[in-house]
Amino acid sequence: MKTQKNTNVVMFTLMERLWHWIQAFSMIMLSISGISIHWPGAILGMETAHSMHHLFGYIVAINFAVWFLYMLATKRIHYYLPKRADEYPMGIFKQAKFYLIDIYFTNKHPYHVGPENRMNPMQKVAYVSVMFLAMPAQIITGFVLMFGGASVHTALLVHVLVGAFFVLFIFGHMYLATTGHTPLALFKEMIHGYEEDLVKEPAKEEK
Ligand code: HEM
Repeated sequence: MKTQKNTNVVMFTLMERLWHWIQAFSMIMLSISGISIHWPGAILGMETAHSMHHLFGYIVAINFAVWFLYMLATKRIHYYLPKRADEYPMGIFKQAKFYLIDIYFTNKHPYHVGPENRMNPMQKVAYVSVMFLAMPAQIITGFVLMFGGASVHTALLVHVLVGAFFVLFIFGHMYLATTGHTPLALFKEMIHGYEEDLVKEPAKEEK
């Protein structure tokens, strides 16, 4: 099976793609440096880990603020809002069953994903939790740890737990990103921005 980009349908704007890949790279750098701070010397030396964690912490905080304002200003934030067609909570179970079982027998996803509704119900719950709960929690607790405050111990606990969640999220997210029409279809969408349509390959001629 092959896919080809459908230049009539924009899935992700340039701004969204830039935000996403800056976020992805920075979160990986934060995970590596965070692990090295939590378990000193596990991957990087302490000094390098600290400078890296601070640098990418600022990048992620700015990137997040720009993304949030952009999504509000362009009203593209609606992609994250629940819609009646999502059938909560059953839609989440339907999609989870697809990922766990049905995917081995068919590539027909239970929900059509397109520019009108970019996420299936399970993605929506995951992305809303990541972008509207985990990300702000991580940024706020990060600043408390850097600049101090009354509740440094609580901030540290939340920061470490949410950090561990992010590491798990990145692995799960990378795997689920391979479950499009072809293993690379969704990655290509997040690179060139257009919908990746399935193309039927011509049947091979019999010799
Ligand atoms: C580390 C490597 C990463 C890869 C390869 C990757 C890949 C992708 C791909 C292919 C998509 C489009 C398909 C889909 O909607 O599922 C996507 C969407 C998304 N990713 Fe990632 N991602 C990565 C890291 C991250 C991180 C660290 C975050 C957040 C902390 C993140 C948040 C999102 C969100 C919120 C969307 C949905 C965007 C939208 O539709 O508005 N990704 N990712």
